[in-house]
Amino acid sequence: MFPAPATPPREPPSHFKNWLSLAGAIIALGSLFAFVFLVAIDTFAHNRNPYLGILTYIVAPAFLVLGLALIISGWWVQHRQAAQPPEGGEPRALTIDLSRPRDRHYLLLFGSGAVVFLLMTAFGSYQTYHFTESVEFCGETCHGVMKPEFTTYHHSAHARVSCAECHIGSGASWYVKSKISGAYQVYATTFNKYERPIKTPIKNLRPAQETCERCHWPEKFTGNLDRTYMHYLSDKKNTPYTVRLSLRVGGGQPGEGFFGGIHWHMNVANRVEYYATDPQRQTIPWIRITSAASGEVRIYRTKDFQGEPPAGASRVMDCIDCHNRPAHAYQTANQAVEVDMALGKISTMLPYIKQTAVQALTKDYAGMDQAFEGIAAVLRHKYQTADEVAPAIAAVQRIYQENFFPAMKADWRTYPNNIGHKDWPGCFRCHDDKHRTVDGNVAVRSSDCTACHTILAQGRGEELARLAPQGMEFKHPGGDLDPDLLCSDCHNGGLQGK
Ligand code: HEC
Ligand code: HEC
Ligand code: HEC
Ligand code: HEC
Ligand code: HEC
Ligand code: HEC
Repeated sequence: MFPAPATPPREPPSHFKNWLSLAGAIIALGSLFAFVFLVAIDTFAHNRNPYLGILTYIVAPAFLVLGLALIISGWWVQHRQAAQPPEGGEPRALTIDLSRPRDRHYLLLFGSGAVVFLLMTAFGSYQTYHFTESVEFCGETCHGVMKPEFTTYHHSAHARVSCAECHIGSGASWYVKSKISGAYQVYATTFNKYERPIKTPIKNLRPAQETCERCHWPEKFTGNLDRTYMHYLSDKKNTPYTVRLSLRVGGGQPGEGFFGGIHWHMNVANRVEYYATDPQRQTIPWIRITSAASGEVRIYRTKDFQGEPPAGASRVMDCIDCHNRPAHAYQTANQAVEVDMALGKISTMLPYIKQTAVQALTKDYAGMDQAFEGIAAVLRHKYQTADEVAPAIAAVQRIYQENFFPAMKADWRTYPNNIGHKDWPGCFRCHDDKHRTVDGNVAVRSSDCTACHTILAQGRGEELARLAPQGMEFKHPGGDLDPDLLCSDCHNGGLQGK
């Protein structure tokens, strides 16, 4: 310890011998230990994590600096006191004399405090490491910010896949990138600087090869998928209209099954590149496909875009260009109401309920509470005290709660879903007959409604029991289709035509 200095020859007492410097030394030691420990976890951990990086490279060093600052201020105070000796004449350097009970007491207290501090640093760092990996951390810590993503995620097929598995994954270079953006996100959240809504597409999202394809094998042959879409018209009787499709998903690998179909764009036997002129990648004037086997290249352009895209501006198509909402699908007002009608949560006995519920959902509300009141008011006004009203109000409010996030300005209107073509351009961004090769002869297949699916049945009741394996022509409930319009020109997820 620090034995009382023997009588002459006296050395000038060290200015570091004081409680403040000692406490500083312990904090510095603790954070140095935490730093080394975290660097070790960081290096050997299976899944690297940007928030751990913040802890390791920002928080731990901050404490180290604090410790060092305390050591120096202790020294400085001591130095000042030595320069101006108090009345008694002797500078009051820290002396610990174990024969003095008071000193023994202090030392015991200080020593056990230091041990507890060091233990807690180790335990705390380890726990924090685990916490930053968890879904709660990503989804709940930045509560308001991530609420839309957290809520929709819990209703997705990927509710058991952690956020980090899609958003971070493993690998050194992405780790550094996500660490930088992670640090920015913490800053943005703390100082309320984030964008509302959060902008997509996320620029530094890892390529699908390193996230989706760790679980999904792109060569897998899927074949045909049988899907049923239930709708209700916005007339008085809420007339049901259902369409049952056989989707030709197919596969992207010759030899693994019949080659072709929707998963033809899988980047296995072909490479598809495109150039989008808007940040949301909704307007695509240029496409290039390269065959892996023959190296043959074909370029498609729209009429008003000639030439080539600027260097580095094109993108290789991957899973996320179609499946851009695998974990955060915001249902359209239409879809959500139709599902609840089909499930009987909203009674189809209420005249015009489809239209009324969609109208109630698509009004502008300042916040969740106002929306709840507004929805109740619209339905009460229309149906007064009908028995079916109370459950319908509850169902519509729940739809709002799970798909609309006024605080973050997030709902289906902010985040297009590219998987189909009814409510967003989706596949028709390219498959619209307007993309042609230079000679103008070959278009990306499109107007042919059977290129991607065949309609097995459509209509209601009896009609749905009659399957047509050869497929049937689409009977559009909204009248004859205009070949110059995209479905999404009228269908916008709310009420048609607006
Ligand atoms: C199955 C993979 C997957 C999982 C799991 C996942 N995400 Fe996403 N996330 C995506 C994709 C893909 C996008 C859309 C990227 C784009 O459009 O550029 C996205 C977008 C986002 C966005 C941008 C805003 C938006 O709504 O599009 C945020 C924020 C986000 N995710 C947070 C989370 C959080 C928090 C979790 C965990 C609770 C999570 N994600 C889990 C794949 C995933
Ligand atoms: C950690 C593993 C994992 C990762 C990473 C992952 N998925 Fe999945 N995915 C699954 C599992 C498991 C299922 C099946 C869930 C089920 O059927 O309930 C699934 C289902 C799907 C489905 C069918 C969903 C449906 O609604 O029926 C699609 C499409 C899909 N994933 C796309 C993606 C895309 C795109 C990504 C990358 C952004 C991705 N997955 C990343 C494990 C994963
Ligand atoms: C050209 C657009 C497109 C691309 C690119 C694409 N998919 Fe799909 N995929 C679809 C469509 C359309 C379906 C049909 C199901 C649907 O509508 O949700 C589908 C279905 C699926 C399913 C569900 C299969 C089942 O049995 O339920 C999975 C899983 C899947 N895709 C994974 C992937 C993965 C992984 C990638 C990237 C390697 C990918 N897809 C690339 C359009 C695409
Ligand atoms: C970035 C542009 C782009 C997008 C978006 C896109 N495709 Fe394609 N697709 C192409 C091109 C280019 C071809 C090749 C056309 C050809 O060979 O003539 C193609 C071919 C196809 C084929 C024919 C494959 C075969 O068997 O030869 C199908 C089916 C298909 N796409 C379905 C879809 C579906 C479904 C979606 C939406 C989920 C979609 N595509 C989105 C560009 C796109
Ligand atoms: C490029 C491929 C492609 C072409 C061409 C195509 N579709 Fe589709 N269609 C899809 C996909 C993919 C879905 C499924 C979307 C989903 O899973 O949500 C779909 C879904 C649909 C649905 C059901 C949507 C719903 O919500 O009820 C109808 C109806 C439909 N298509 C009609 C047509 C008609 C009519 C044409 C011709 C004008 C056509 N499709 C051409 C890919 C295509
Ligand atoms: C000119 C505008 C317009 C275009 C373009 C259009 N629709 Fe419609 N569609 C309507 C109207 C209006 C209704 C009737 C809506 C109602 O009564 O609620 C309707 C009803 C529907 C319905 C049943 C009800 C619903 O709300 O989902 C489906 C499914 C549908 N259309 C699919 C399509 C598809 C697929 C395309 C593209 C191939 C398309 N429509 C193009 C106007 C349009």
